[in-house]
Amino acid sequence: MQTMWAGRFEKNLDAKVNDFNSSISFDARMFSQDIKGSLAHAAMLCAQHILTQEEYTAITDGLCAVLEDLQSGKLAFDPVAEDIHMFVEAELTKRIGAPGKKLHTARSRNDQVALDLRMYLMDEAAAVSDMLLSLEEVLLKKADAYAETILPGYTHLQRAQPVTFGHHLMAYANMFARDLDRLADCKERMAVSPLGACALAGTTYDTDRQMTAETLGFDEPCPNSLDGVSDRDFVIEMICALAMVMMHLSRFSEEIILWCSWEFKFIELDDAYATGSSIMPQKKNPDVAELIRGKTGRVYGDLMAILTVMKGLPLAYNKDMQEDKEAVFDALDTVKLCLPVFTKMIDTMTVLSDNMRAAAAKGFINATDCADYLTKKGVPFRDAYKITGKLVGYGVKNGKTLEDMTMEEYKAASDVFDTDVYDAIDLMACVNKRTSFGGTAPDSVYDQIADMKTRLNL
Ligand code: ARG
Repeated sequence: MQTMWAGRFEKNLDAKVNDFNSSISFDARMFSQDIKGSLAHAAMLCAQHILTQEEYTAITDGLCAVLEDLQSGKLAFDPVAEDIHMFVEAELTKRIGAPGKKLHTARSRNDQVALDLRMYLMDEAAAVSDMLLSLEEVLLKKADAYAETILPGYTHLQRAQPVTFGHHLMAYANMFARDLDRLADCKERMAVSPLGACALAGTTYDTDRQMTAETLGFDEPCPNSLDGVSDRDFVIEMICALAMVMMHLSRFSEEIILWCSWEFKFIELDDAYATGSSIMPQKKNPDVAELIRGKTGRVYGDLMAILTVMKGLPLAYNKDMQEDKEAVFDALDTVKLCLPVFTKMIDTMTVLSDNMRAAAAKGFINATDCADYLTKKGVPFRDAYKITGKLVGYGVKNGKTLEDMTMEEYKAASDVFDTDVYDAIDLMACVNKRTSFGGTAPDSVYDQIADMKTRLNL
């Protein structure tokens, strides 16, 4: 087969090397970005009188026809093409002849690939953000519905203090809001155009990089041509942001898995979002949550792969960098696969509020409030802590909760106790009192929801 760069070579490329070298199987997905980039480049070449008006018209018509045919499926990608950039150029030249050969004036595949990938990832960052926003909507809706539902809050997976389910959900809403910020942030840094950097050193033609950057919706052209074609930190940042999304989804999934076990039974997944066992008729498995937890490893792998690819590369372009696309596409595909299913799973799950409340009644999660009660009556906190600890020990031995204990039992621990202790350790009261900014009280949760709505423009 004859390649575009055949001039310098006496032999054709070995077929296996061609397959090995080719990236069209995965970079074909950037075809519309590639063609848009070429359209902008041709317009600039014409404006700078590097192309004639006729050549420009022929190129534009040709490129638009190629785009249309690819979109409609009329034109198939040639698996023998080295990459999407060469494929588009070859197809154009096949269709329009001589002017097609002029398109590559004052540019290189090195700036094309960096351009296409930036454009593609900017679009994808927006698509992932939309999915995250849909998840946020569900979380805010559920947080509002369960702002007064009490469950045990945990540290070390030990029951710690009562919290509201709305508060718990809002913790995740905050994490995903930061994921949204991270995506927006890396999108902003991505918005510099490498087009016109050419192979590495810029060009002797009188090009207008400002113009192509503007046409393609970039903030500005990248200020250093070597950096423009060498940098892949925008890919790393993007995968990093995606890995973080997966980490949050995975933590949440872990809780979902725990919560639907018989040991917790805090939620029941909708039948459409759970699976059965081939042998155990009683089973209802949280496969979706488990798969999301599992797929998180893939995205971390993608991040490690690209970090490792880039760590030893001298400037400027090296073919190693072709490995960036499969990593980032895999990370994107994975996140885009997980987010909508996860959102639906959360939206359709049944919250078993009574079970949450029953679990909260055990484990002495109001012990801090009991100690605070004594402190408010003048007992130093360390003494109050000790007295309450003794009461808990007594309760554990005698199978009693703090609510179950008689006044005599309280008085035996400290005569500061009075009948108002029962109000102080009532779980709803414990929760209602935590009105500090960001706290678990329903009123605080409602405020958090309102603030988040404003922050996310929902
Ligand atoms: N397919 C290549 C990539 O993905 C495009 C750039 C090729 N440049 C080159 N000088 N071989 O990185």
